[in-house]
Amino acid sequence: MLDLDTAWSADEGIARATELFTATYGHAPDGVWASPGRVNVIGEHIDYNGGYCLPIALPHRTYVAARRRDDRQVRMVTDFQADQPWKGSLDDLAPGGLDGWAAYAGGPVWALRQDGVEVPGLDLAIASCVPVGAGLSSSAAIECAVGLAAAELADRPLGENPEDRAQLAALCVRAENEVAGAPTGGLDQAASLRTQDGHALLLDCAANAVEHIPFDMSAHGLCLLVADSRASHALGDGQYGARRAHCEQAAELLGVKSLRETADATDPSQLDEVLATLPEDVLRRRVRHVLTETWRVQDFVAALREERFEEAGELLSASHASLRDDYEVSVKETDVLVDAALAAGALGSRITGGGFGGSVIALVRADQADQIGQAMAAAAQQHGTPEPQLHLATAAAPGQRMA
Ligand code: GLA
Repeated sequence: MLDLDTAWSADEGIARATELFTATYGHAPDGVWASPGRVNVIGEHIDYNGGYCLPIALPHRTYVAARRRDDRQVRMVTDFQADQPWKGSLDDLAPGGLDGWAAYAGGPVWALRQDGVEVPGLDLAIASCVPVGAGLSSSAAIECAVGLAAAELADRPLGENPEDRAQLAALCVRAENEVAGAPTGGLDQAASLRTQDGHALLLDCAANAVEHIPFDMSAHGLCLLVADSRASHALGDGQYGARRAHCEQAAELLGVKSLRETADATDPSQLDEVLATLPEDVLRRRVRHVLTETWRVQDFVAALREERFEEAGELLSASHASLRDDYEVSVKETDVLVDAALAAGALGSRITGGGFGGSVIALVRADQADQIGQAMAAAAQQHGTPEPQLHLATAAAPGQRMA
């Protein structure tokens, strides 16, 4: 039997963050906050085009034990780079001043202060079971957990209602764009803060509106497997930004604010006519992905609601083909896993997240999960790619105070 239950329990996460805090600073924290990583079920590279995405929050969370200080100092430590603690003043938490994990942890403090929240000096200890570099939003989990902690310790809690959560998610996006320097959209932070337990989040990125779609695969004898391909995933090398730039260029040529407008205004039967107005093949392929993926999210949600899971699976596989062939964000390691899952009987499978490595998901019948997981591992071995790390994805709760 494969061990797919890889997330820490809440008690374990709280204990790990608290122990790290106490061992580092010699006193107890004021509280512990946590926020999850995510799997995007469908709607990839759509957020920055104003379309729809459908993520779930994972049971894998980043835990932050935090305590308010009376001065303007900030100290931060993590369990994943324990030899690199960070120490400085509140004013050092700003664009250009932070690298690596410290940019994700310090960025939200900067963004909150920019928004007028008077964040005090802080001691933070961060412990995480969100796989890093796996396309499961370990960075957004850090941002959102620190954001929740810092806001509450500034006496301006932002986790208590949907409007505050939307505001905090937007501040964390700003932090990621301006402090960490990653030109990402809002999918990951919305998934970490705006989801509901047991539900997928239908995020309309143009209206910044959300709808909660029941997502309990086990009630239907199904499960969603995640396989981390362990192929290095980094969005900072320019490929992500290049995809985004192509979309912006195409939107300008089409005379729209975002490609979502084109998706809404186009009947799928007219797709080729719209594409024919674009001057380059690469733009035509990028736009074809964005339009068809936007339509697929809507079809997928309808299929879920009507419990047509075979069709939902086919839409996942069509999304993968589009990301592989038109958007060109898949790599050999992820293609091998998707092909193996499908050959072994998955209803559907696709790369998830930003791409260029990272994880794939597979929608499978629960009684075939073991066999399909093993088929993915065997295919990786046969192709000389890394052994995948498998997880079970269930729709878990959003970020919140834990202790
Ligand atoms: C990364 C980004 C998100 C989104 C996805 C692709 O996860 O952080 O904003 O664009 O890629 O869907």
